[in-house]
Amino acid sequence: MSGLRFRLSGAIERTNRPPIPQAYSWAEHYKPTPTRPLLDMSQGVPGVPPPKIFLDALGTASSSPSSCGYVPNAGELALRQAIAEEMRIPYGEDIDVTAGDIAITAGCNMAFVATIMTIAEAGDEVILPVPWYFNHEMTLTMLGVKVVPLPTDPDNGFLPSLEQCAKLVTPKTKAIVLVTPNNPVCYFYSALKSIEVSFSQLQTGAIYPASHIAMFAGLARSRNLALILDETYRDFLSTESLPPHKLFAPPASRGPFDPSSHHALPTDWCWRETIIHLFSFSKSYCIPGHRLGLICASPDIMPSLNKALDNVQICAPRPPQIALAPLLPALRPFVQSNNEALKHRHTLFKSLLPPKWHIGAQGGYYAFVKHPFIGIGATKVARRLAEEMGVLCLPAGFFGPGQSENVGPDERDVEDRWIRFSVANVSDDKVRHVCQRLGESEMAFGWETE
Ligand SMILES: Cc1ncc(COP(=O)(O)O)c(C=O)c1O
Repeated sequence: MSGLRFRLSGAIERTNRPPIPQAYSWAEHYKPTPTRPLLDMSQGVPGVPPPKIFLDALGTASSSPSSCGYVPNAGELALRQAIAEEMRIPYGEDIDVTAGDIAITAGCNMAFVATIMTIAEAGDEVILPVPWYFNHEMTLTMLGVKVVPLPTDPDNGFLPSLEQCAKLVTPKTKAIVLVTPNNPVCYFYSALKSIEVSFSQLQTGAIYPASHIAMFAGLARSRNLALILDETYRDFLSTESLPPHKLFAPPASRGPFDPSSHHALPTDWCWRETIIHLFSFSKSYCIPGHRLGLICASPDIMPSLNKALDNVQICAPRPPQIALAPLLPALRPFVQSNNEALKHRHTLFKSLLPPKWHIGAQGGYYAFVKHPFIGIGATKVARRLAEEMGVLCLPAGFFGPGQSENVGPDERDVEDRWIRFSVANVSDDKVRHVCQRLGESEMAFGWETE
């Protein structure tokens, strides 16, 4: 490399490197064989392709000259209308969402970038519960927006506390971000000293109850902030957890207003004043490479949002929008069967995990596992798993302050023994092999185990 004569942006230099490529660089040291291939449970990617009806429609749309042109910033109207209709399935028949509230983006990461560009500028503050989705933290840092961590408490099921959040609001705060169901899962690794207590609480902590989301919505509204809800994993909730929240419903259909309940939204609640909802087509529809996501927000924000969208993407890829628009209802059984298959795989993973490896939480795409090596940080373990055992997974430290390799593995808290496995990535058969190799690693690594 010859070096550069110009300087890079300070903001980009302060931004952590993406952790997934770091994990892949560990795997380069592994020598796969036909009987022992690399088993990748790192990035949250669907383990199955989209159904043939979608692939056929995509083929037709891609080869049509009419799909080669730009589309308006907010995307294909037919898809936006279909989405507004489809959202009734998880959120309820009575929701008040129309095509005018929807903008299509090139993935949900882009939805977050465009949202932040629209509502915040360098020097502003955004509150992120810890653990966070690493790209949210990276985006904010890259845009010069201050990340205000909201630590979560194991004694409260790792749910972010409303009172604590309220204390973090300053005149510079622009938004609170919640990811629900969460990625990786709700945990706070440096607080996990008491494992017995934490395990049971982690089980309940992966999904924010609707009442909790409503309280945050109320806080955001009363302090004139945006509540950004990233609901990428919404379609992986079980039926009992639906609707994920009632924020989109008009007040009349939310039941009688009980002013004594701090869960209640005000009678004049209007979601458009406060909520910015984000969604990804990558997981539910198994099309991460086609880059489709969405922002659902007030039409009042759209002219400003379109400025950001026009600069960063002009429009999202057009053929998958055209292909998806008429197919959303027909693809619902596929989305549901994926959800079922994933639940089954979570059960399988749990049942086959070697006894000394403990599941802390499972939900959505992910299982959060405590490794058995005493006094060894998760990054070191994940690295050896990749390099020597051919099992790729992400240490928990990637999802909190000090994420990525900017902090050396040895500098991390050795109490950090949590590893995220993306259970969605692999077949049932590969789950068996992963668990077998985790068992073998206990002998191979030569570290003291519990
Ligand atoms: C919480 C969350 N938001 C957004 C994304 C990115 O989604 P997309 O592929 O649509 O950009 C992910 C991907 O893992 C995620 O976990």
